[in-house]
Amino acid sequence: MRILVTGGAGFIGSAFLQHQVPRRADHTFLNVDRLGYASNLRNLAPVADASNYGFQRLDLCDADAAVACVTAFNPDLVVHFAAESHVDRSISGPRAFVDANVTGTLNLLEACRAAWGDEFEGKRFHHISTDEVFGALGPTGVFTEATAYDPRSPYSASKASSDHLVRAYGHTYGLPFVITNCSNNYGPRQFPEKLIPLMILNCLEGKPLPVYGEGAQIRDWLYVDDHVRAIELVAARGRLGETYLVGGGHEVANLAIVHSICEEVASQTGLDVTNLQNQIEYVTDRPGHDFRYAIDATKIKGELGWSPQESFESGLRKTVAWYLAEREWVDEVRSGEYRAWIEQQYGKDQQ
Ligand code: NAD
Ligand code: TYD
Repeated sequence: MRILVTGGAGFIGSAFLQHQVPRRADHTFLNVDRLGYASNLRNLAPVADASNYGFQRLDLCDADAAVACVTAFNPDLVVHFAAESHVDRSISGPRAFVDANVTGTLNLLEACRAAWGDEFEGKRFHHISTDEVFGALGPTGVFTEATAYDPRSPYSASKASSDHLVRAYGHTYGLPFVITNCSNNYGPRQFPEKLIPLMILNCLEGKPLPVYGEGAQIRDWLYVDDHVRAIELVAARGRLGETYLVGGGHEVANLAIVHSICEEVASQTGLDVTNLQNQIEYVTDRPGHDFRYAIDATKIKGELGWSPQESFESGLRKTVAWYLAEREWVDEVRSGEYRAWIEQQYGKDQQ
């Protein structure tokens, strides 16, 4: 099989490639990524020299380049990760999200039609999406595949649009697709603007730990390799035209996550846990902050036998250990652009 992976230099796409390339020597992988601020080719070092792996720099916003690339590679399977992915950035600059997530997906779909024509036998388009398209939950309830879309941030609205486009191409042109909507991921190589890596690094560097509002919002956390295993199963055996929700079933309030991070960092470094907890600062809440996300993963568990293998405790232990060991990676990703974002979002004291 020929597998096109978009956005494979980011957090989840690189975890997918690190997992799949060595295990699938009979498959050829092409990773296309525009190499934006959250990407790092160092994420792909373990597979960079593999004979079944290639990389091409491509911005999916360039429709002609997308057609040329997809036509030349002629994939059997497309796994579409490429997206702008950070909610806070979508609030301060929504247009980039519509460009990358809506136009980028449209261009990729058109490129697939150009490459595949009307002959879809053996082809599959796997769209990677988020549970945020379903909006926000109160203290009870869960999202299922039947939950109506109700996106509430520019990020989730752009992801919802891309989901709709993929389904529309399925219904209108017969494009064979599957969609997975996953809950919050964490793990190694996540860009340190997201909650968990930001808090780990700020703990280590004695910086404030900025908790939005009262830290009462709840997320359903999943270790990234468990998401990768879910994608592998759905890409191989998920029913065409279907959606699968993927979630860790580990719901935690943000403040409790920050406390767990303080405890884990203290236990791995010998730093004083009370001093770390004293670094917590309550800052202005995110506008329109979704209160709670939670996934009912019954369908993927029942149909495909998926279940998370990592507990939150073991996943967090591995994640903290990774950020402690990979200081070079951290220094590299904290470019001028990263510093500019942190200053805009949290002020100069975080520098
Ligand atoms: P990320 O920001 O770490 O990586 C995204 C990658 O896509 C980057 O390397 C970026 O350069 C690339 N990209 C963006 N726009 C592009 C374009 N126009 N052309 C080519 N490449 C482009 O994000 P991530 O956390 O790895 O998320 C990957 C996917 O998973 C996204 O679609 C996201 O919506 C989805 N998702 C993420 C989470 C999460 O918790 N991180 C949860 C559920 C779903
Ligand atoms: P984030 O990692 O940005 O993921 P998402 O917004 O996609 O869920 O944020 C996770 C939660 O943590 C979210 O409720 C916002 C909150 N948060 C903070 O309290 N402080 C921060 O500095 C960040 C980045 C997030």
